[in-house]
Amino acid sequence: MRKLERFWNRKSYLQIKNVVKKSEHIVITIDGPSASGKSTNARLVAKKLGYIYVDTGAMYRTLAWYCLKKGVDVDDPKAVAALCRKWKPTLELVDNAAYLLVDGYFPKSEIRTSEVSAAVAHVAAIPKVREWMKKTQQSTSQFGNLVMEGRDTGTNIFPETDFKFYLDACIHERSKRREAEGVQENLAARDAKDSQRATSPLMIPLGAKIINNSGQTPAETSSLIIEEVTKRLADRKR
Ligand code: DC
Repeated sequence: MRKLERFWNRKSYLQIKNVVKKSEHIVITIDGPSASGKSTNARLVAKKLGYIYVDTGAMYRTLAWYCLKKGVDVDDPKAVAALCRKWKPTLELVDNAAYLLVDGYFPKSEIRTSEVSAAVAHVAAIPKVREWMKKTQQSTSQFGNLVMEGRDTGTNIFPETDFKFYLDACIHERSKRREAEGVQENLAARDAKDSQRATSPLMIPLGAKIINNSGQTPAETSSLIIEEVTKRLADRKR
């Protein structure tokens, strides 16, 4: 376990270290809208390849949960940014996945409640929050090869990687997936917030392979991703 605070104090050292790490490690980015199968497929790909899984949405959800816990209004960007400056989570590797822990605790089920789901897009739209998340998410490359999923991982966090994917599925199928998980969520509203915000909106990254997985099983989608990664790795050696 490492204290994030310590990372910032050693910023210049880390910037150099990250540049080296970025070229050393393979980073697979998987972006796409809510319920497009990012988490399921990123987990499967990470497990199959033995890479570290990073769920960047969980990091935003952890901050949104912490705001609610501390009574901070998520519609007040200044208050959220101030809390983000002050909180001191740790970045930890648990079962080959990187998580933010608050006071040593990962709020695994709490971050999936409808309250947090409603709050998180507000928190994720705040530029200071996104700056903080970017540094934190980039620092996960210290752990090794990554499969990182989110909304801006290929456009903003690791734009230089050769292994970018963009998953999508029709809204009908995505809504069915959320319902099957027992989550009631207005996906159209979430899509609009995620793709219309000013800072790092959801976009298809340059050079990404687009996979529309409507009607596909996770086994099929994850195999397509691994096939493409294997091909791009082989192309690199030529
Ligand atoms: O994937 P998810 O539903 O857990 O994401 C939660 C929210 O965080 C969602 O509104 C989009 C936002 N998010 C983001 O803006 N950038 C990311 N890299 C990941 C998630």
